[in-house]
Order: sequence, then C-alpha cells, then structure tokens
Amino acid sequence: MSFKGRDVVSIRDFDRKDIDQVLTTAKLMEPLTKAGSELLKGRISANIFYEPSTRTRMSFEAAMLRLGGNCINITEPRTSSIDKGESLSDTLRVVENYSDLIVLRHPLEGSAKLAADLASIPVINAGSGSEEHPTQALLDLYTIWREKGKLDGTKIAILGDLRYGRTAHSLAYALAHYDTELFFVSPRTLRMRREVLEEVGSRIKVSETTDISTTLPNIDILYVTRIQKERFPDLEEYQKVRGAYRITLETLREAKTGLIVMHPLPRADEIALDVDRTSFARYFRETWYGMVVRMALLALVLGVV
Ligand code: NCD
Repeated sequence: MSFKGRDVVSIRDFDRKDIDQVLTTAKLMEPLTKAGSELLKGRISANIFYEPSTRTRMSFEAAMLRLGGNCINITEPRTSSIDKGESLSDTLRVVENYSDLIVLRHPLEGSAKLAADLASIPVINAGSGSEEHPTQALLDLYTIWREKGKLDGTKIAILGDLRYGRTAHSLAYALAHYDTELFFVSPRTLRMRREVLEEVGSRIKVSETTDISTTLPNIDILYVTRIQKERFPDLEEYQKVRGAYRITLETLREAKTGLIVMHPLPRADEIALDVDRTSFARYFRETWYGMVVRMALLALVLGVV
C-alpha cells in the first residue's frame, strides 16, 4: 500500500512489505542526516504531546528539520488551550489548519485512532496510552536490522513491563511478520497482554517466563523495558514489582557473543550504568536510528519519496 497520506495509528496496519519499505527508506535517509536535504521544504508538522517525551518528540522534530521542513508544537498542555478544557477534537480541528501532518502522543488508548478519524491530514501515533507505539517498533526493527544485518532468524527476549509497556506490544506485533522467536520475560502480574500473545503466538514461536537467566543464553537480542510506574492504578502494586529486573555485567556473563541490549529509554534502574560501555549496549545508538526512521516516515507519509 502507498504511504502517501496514510495514518500511522497501529503497527498492526502494516504488513511485512510496508515495514521493509520503511526500513529501506530509512537507510537512504542516513547520509541526509549530515548532508541535509530540502525534501520537505515548505512542509509543517504539528507535534501535539499530552504526555512527557524526550526522544520521540525531539527526534520527530529533528527529522523534520533535517529534511528542510518545520514544526509547530504543543509540548506542554498547560501552556495551550488544553489547560482551559479544550477537547482533543477541537484542538485537532484547529491544528489541521496550520500543518500538513500531526504527530500525537496521548494518555488514552484509542486516542490516535480517534484523531486519525477526525483529522483531514495524516496522524502519526507517537504513543497511545499503554496500547501502542508504532514508530518505536519501526525504529526497534531498524536497529536490529542494522546491527544484526537481518531480522529473520533472530531470537529476541522482551523483558520488563509487558502489560503496560506500549513499546513491547508494538514490537511484538511487528516482529511477528518475520521468522523470529520471542521470549516474553516479566513478573507474573505484568505478563504480555492476552490479545498480543494470541495474535503474535499464532504467527511465530513465543514463550513466557519470569526468569531472564535461563533465557539469556538462547537469545540474540535483549529488549529491556521500564516498569511503567505512571500506568499503575495502584502504587502499592508498583512497589511490589519495582526493581524486579536489573541487567548488570554479572547478568550478561551468560550472554551469547554478539548479543545486543536494546531499550526504548528512558531507563529507570533496569540496566546498570556500567553496561553502557560494553559492546552489548545499543540503546543510545538506537536513538539515532529513531531519527532516521522518523525522517523516512515523514517523507513517505508526505509523499516525497
Ligand atoms: C517509551 C514510551 O513513551 O512508551 N519511550 C519512548 O518513546 N522511547 C518507553 C517508556 O516510557 O518507558
């Protein structure tokens, strides 16, 4: 399917061919990060963020600027009319007059779908509650493809908060298009959502465990996630699982050579700082890949590539 004018709401709307197209376009974008480009000259994207963000918002913004476009932003709802009680739909009806594309992060599941239905311009989901984070999944796949040279034939453990972690959901759906094997590692109370497990498990081999040490020798990629404190309805429940996993040099002793450790960031304390300087660490590199993938997505959706 052509990307031009398309919304990016759920990674489930993308088949393998679509995902491959984003990855190959991202590769073409890499040299433009230095050389600069005028591909999106005269275009404006509107970044509307109702939740905190560093990487997603800044990399979308940097991607637009590196392609010669411009951005307008709501990054602090308290300084916009949202603080006066303006609804999401009214905000969208206004912002679509100012821009060519909307990038939206919102705490409610279903928010990106609603926005895409309402807006007359393309909407890219930059995180919809605990549900999905499709552009993070694309950059995670890009990181694996660039660092391992392939997606097919890889074994990946997704560790941490698989219940509330939207990046974990989108990543699992995306990897299910490839010949991969997934290990879901989490505390019992934060197991992978049933609907994700069922859909992904019908396509590829998946298993669930609470134990990372027995899983580690089998995998090529360890994808670590943060326990999503802000999503817990009850902070006492959070206290029971905080610090459930901590990846240290000691943990990684059992790792295969060539294992890579990824993380969407921000990290709390689930990866020890001294892992950063090992050859396992790819989480900061991943943020650069994120910008490149977002350059590709913007160019594809705005129909210039
Ligand atoms: C993630 C998110 O917002 O879901 N961050 C990101 O976009 N890289 C992960 C998280 O907050 O834990």
